Amino acid sequence: MTEFPGGSIVHGPRRAEVNGAGGSDGRRRLGEAGLNAKPSGRMHVADSLEGGVPARTVGEVSVEDPVFSCRDVSVFYGAKQALHSVTLDIARRQVLAAIGPSGCGKSTFLRCLNRMNDTIPGARVTGTITLDGQDIYDKSKDIAQLRARIGMVFQKPNPFHKSIYDNVAYGPRIHKLTRTRADLDELVFTSLSRAGLWNEVKDRLSAPAVGLSGGQQQRLCIARTLAVQPEVILMDEPCSALDPIATARVEDLIEELRASYAIVMVTHSMQQAARVSQRTAFFYMGKLIEVSDTDHVFTNPQHRLTEDYITGRFG
Ligand SMILES: Nc1ncnc2c1ncn2[C@@H]1O[C@H](COP(=O)(O)OP(=O)(O)OP(=O)(O)O)[C@@H](O)[C@H]1O
Ligand SMILES: [Mg+2]
Repeated sequence: MTEFPGGSIVHGPRRAEVNGAGGSDGRRRLGEAGLNAKPSGRMHVADSLEGGVPARTVGEVSVEDPVFSCRDVSVFYGAKQALHSVTLDIARRQVLAAIGPSGCGKSTFLRCLNRMNDTIPGARVTGTITLDGQDIYDKSKDIAQLRARIGMVFQKPNPFHKSIYDNVAYGPRIHKLTRTRADLDELVFTSLSRAGLWNEVKDRLSAPAVGLSGGQQQRLCIARTLAVQPEVILMDEPCSALDPIATARVEDLIEELRASYAIVMVTHSMQQAARVSQRTAFFYMGKLIEVSDTDHVFTNPQHRLTEDYITGRFG
């Protein structure tokens, strides 16, 4: 076993739960899981260390009645492994923030959840991911249907070169969600309203979407996602191209949306993670190092790497 400086658990006296990646019951208590108190009072991970990070995730990976349940999920791009045995449940009606330095696998993890890694040549996903208890990698699963249940919002707003109306109506038309024009109008109105954009665009629905400001375009993309009535919304740095005012609007929107949706949001902003999420997952070098309630992660991180990252010592 190799030891490395960042491999220690901080706050030794606290009880943390340590989860075996991929373990069926998934939970063991400190002490049973190979964490040994050092004379200093600090805890050291006694599990094998691979690639400089511990093999086990610190914190509670399981939730009751999860929408997504990921067990032992690894991703390879050709021969390179980008994600290592990630085990994590995603709760309903809650925002999970995924944080960690560039290249640690946040987007890769997000893309596993709607099978977007399938579109990358040479990418391979192992392990199990269930959505409402059903294996999303099951060969019989219809990927288009799956993606309709899992909305995705990207870093850079990507409206289609269509009108504002047609952007929002696109998904419902493809998935035949409405029967009449009036129903479609209603769905477009509801989606734009929920995205907090209706008042700004109601008089220009037939204007090109690319003529909107960046913040408006991002809210349009969120409206487009809502229009297909997904169960989960994945957001990969949704505010990184926005100014502080547009960011605040999108954050308010996320706060409203979590009443109805499970949201997984990648962010490079600790402040944003602290503001909008209820649970935070810290990734490092392709591993899920720690996951816990957001307050807990930011005020009392259990792992030294988490603490170093959130205090800005690296990243
Ligand atoms: N299409 C790809 N082909 C090969 N390697 C890839 C591909 N996409 C990502 N990777 C590699 O996988 C690792 C994780 O990348 P990923 O994009 O998931 O990181 P990230 O945490 O989202 O980073 P960032 O914060 O910069 O967006 C990196 O080493 C990256 O170079
Ligand atoms: Mg990324």
